Amino acid sequence: MRGLFILALVPAVAVIARPQAADYLARPQAGTPILTRPVKAAALAAADPAPAPAPAPAPASAAPAAAAAPAVPLIPPMPRAWPPTDEVSPIEGDFLTDPLVTASLAYVESVVSPQYLNIPPSKYTSPCVAAYPAETAAQNCYWPANQCVRQNDTAAFQADIYECPVANTWGLTYDDGPTVNVVNGVNTNDSPSLRAKLDSMGVKATFFVVGANVVQHPEEVLAEFNGGHQIALHTYTHYPLTSLTNAQVVAELKYNEAAIYNATGVLPTALRPPCGDVDDRIRAIASALGYRIVIWTTTPVRDTGDADIVDQTPEAAAQVLTTVTSTWFQPQPGFITLEHDIDPFTSGIGLAVLDAVNKTANFPLTMQPVGTCMKLPFYKTIETFGSISAIKAASSSVDGMARARIADSTSSSAAGMSRRGIALFGVFVGALAYGFAL
Ligand SMILES: *[C@@H]1O[C@H](CO)[C@@H](O)[C@H](O)[C@H]1NC(C)=O
Ligand SMILES: *[C@@H]1O[C@H](CO)[C@@H](O)[C@H](O)[C@H]1NC(C)=O
Ligand SMILES: *[C@@H]1O[C@H](CO)[C@@H](O)[C@H](O)[C@H]1NC(C)=O
Repeated sequence: MRGLFILALVPAVAVIARPQAADYLARPQAGTPILTRPVKAAALAAADPAPAPAPAPAPASAAPAAAAAPAVPLIPPMPRAWPPTDEVSPIEGDFLTDPLVTASLAYVESVVSPQYLNIPPSKYTSPCVAAYPAETAAQNCYWPANQCVRQNDTAAFQADIYECPVANTWGLTYDDGPTVNVVNGVNTNDSPSLRAKLDSMGVKATFFVVGANVVQHPEEVLAEFNGGHQIALHTYTHYPLTSLTNAQVVAELKYNEAAIYNATGVLPTALRPPCGDVDDRIRAIASALGYRIVIWTTTPVRDTGDADIVDQTPEAAAQVLTTVTSTWFQPQPGFITLEHDIDPFTSGIGLAVLDAVNKTANFPLTMQPVGTCMKLPFYKTIETFGSISAIKAASSSVDGMARARIADSTSSSAAGMSRRGIALFGVFVGALAYGFAL
């Protein structure tokens, strides 16, 4: 079936030099190469949701004790090999004994309270669906059950981010990329075309990238970074995090981080859990590794639902665009959206939304990356670690290429940071506590 669509649509692509909105919403065209998930994400669902609202977070029994922690290099050592690029398999076997994982796991186990580390994993059902016990879902603030978010900091983690604080601010985010779809030599409905559109409109976004896609297209992640967009984590395989062991959760973050680091020379500060599948165990582990949890706005709904559409017809895409333009394009409290650059269909919707924004006279909203609207640093760099010597000391176990990149990226990001007016320097210094002296 897909082959027939390609034959039918290639001539149309070839004659239209500058696609209009209607083209973005046409039936998906797959060029070569195209990366998609082996299994489409099902609609978000907890197999066993809890009806009760979440209680206040339990107090952590002890604050992380940096002095007791074994030293972990800030710069991730490159792994022996990258895990398979397959969303339906978790990271297993030798991939869990790589020093990239073991050193960080030992650190996590030394600083995160057992009250969090011992929260039992959920049971994997399918991509985006896990069975979480109803009796503990509310207590552990499991997001898929009632979209539970932690609104307050605890000793073990900071509050979840799910809206921009300033009215009429649109936190613009894309999940699951990078993907590259070349049709007749032209990037079509993929990450590079989305980036080109953003750049021509002067708009910056947050890209929550999947490690398995980063290792296949590091050049695209670097281009996003160089364009001033925020790069953040979306795990390595996109497997639901709460269904994994503590070692596997650490592995999902560290392989994702290592892939981004090798592509860009920077270390992100934000993690979006795939499908919002997060509980307090994941929050505490992510926090110990220096990551802030970012969800998206659910009241009112600011998820286009693009990745949940099974029948990817032009009509379904047009319906999404109608909903977005008629309900989002108006003055309102600050919010964070969910869109995807996972395949030509979802990327096409993203492009059509940007086109509609550009065509709206006196557009009432300001689109920004999440780090900008939250006034939080995009990356762990000189601003978050205090000095270049601290970063270099932390990177002493890394090869020359990586050292050169961190030197480059600290100077260029420092300039970028001040351009963006991000002033909360040092905010993560204490929180990260990697076990080296600053
Ligand atoms: C979170 O903190 C705010 C004050 O900043 C307080 O009003 C609210 O009750 C707290 N929420 C919970 C769930 O503890
Ligand atoms: C890191 O990136 C370089 C290219 O900059 C590449 O040659 C190398 O294979 C990458 N390392 C790993 C472990 O993939
Ligand atoms: C935005 O709209 C203007 C015309 O109003 C057009 O010239 C420009 O090319 C558009 N930009 C994008 C990125 O579509």
